[in-house]
Amino acid sequence: MTHDALPFSPAADRNKAPILGALQRLLPGAAQVLEIASGTGQHAAHFAAACPGWQWQPTEADELALPVLAARCAGLPHVLPPQRLDVLAPAWPVEPASFDAVFCANLLHISPWPTCAALMQGAAGALRPGGMLLVYGPFVVDGEPTTASNLGFDADLRARDTRWGLRRLADVDAQARLHGLALAERIALPANNLLLVFSRAGPARRA
Ligand SMILES: C[S@@+](CC[C@H](N)C(=O)[O-])C[C@H]1O[C@@H](n2cnc3c(N)ncnc32)[C@H](O)[C@@H]1O
Repeated sequence: MTHDALPFSPAADRNKAPILGALQRLLPGAAQVLEIASGTGQHAAHFAAACPGWQWQPTEADELALPVLAARCAGLPHVLPPQRLDVLAPAWPVEPASFDAVFCANLLHISPWPTCAALMQGAAGALRPGGMLLVYGPFVVDGEPTTASNLGFDADLRARDTRWGLRRLADVDAQARLHGLALAERIALPANNLLLVFSRAGPARRA
C-alpha cells in the first residue's frame, strides 16, 4: 500500500502538530508510549518521525486498521508492529507497568460510555508509577460554555449512535480517580479540543 492509497483523516492532519507540541513538553526525550485507538496511524507516524527517542506502540480494536498502521509507519524503526487492542477486552495484551505514557485521541466520544472506565483501568495497569495517560478530544466542562460547534458535533454523534456523545470532563475525571489516575493538567488545543493529562501515582522513572 502506498501512502497515497491509505485511509486519511483530515482532522488528524490538522491536529497532529498542536498535539505533538504538547507531547514534547510533557514527555521525556526517551519514552515508551502505548497508543490506543490509533486509527489511520497519522498521529503515530508524525510523532515518531519527530521524536525518534519515543518507542511508539500503535494499537487498534479494528483488525482492518492494523495493515494500514503498519504501512503508514513503515520505515520508522521506533514504531513497534501494530497490535490489536480492544479497550473493552478484560485484559490488555501489554506488559503491566511498562509504559511511560498512554496516548488516546478521539475515542471517548465515539464509543459507548463504559469505554471510559475500561480505558482508565487498562491505562492504570499499563503505566509505570509516575507515568501519564494523555487523552485528547472534545469535552464538556462544567461552568464553561460549550461552543456551538461542539454542541452540533455532540448532536450529530448521538444521532449516529445513541451511546456516543461528548463526555463531561468531571465524569471522565471521576472514572480516572477510581483507577488511581489524577488529573494533573488540562491543555487547551485548537478547535475546542483538550489534552487531558492524568498521572499515575508513584515516583517517575529515572531517565
Ligand atoms: C475517531 S477514530 C480516532 C482515530 C485516531 N486516534 C485519531 O484521532 O485520528 C476512533 C478510533 O477508535 C477505534 N475504537 C473504537 N472502539 C474501540 C475500542 N473499544 N478499543 C480500541 N479502539 C477502538 C476505532 O476503530 C477508530 O479507529
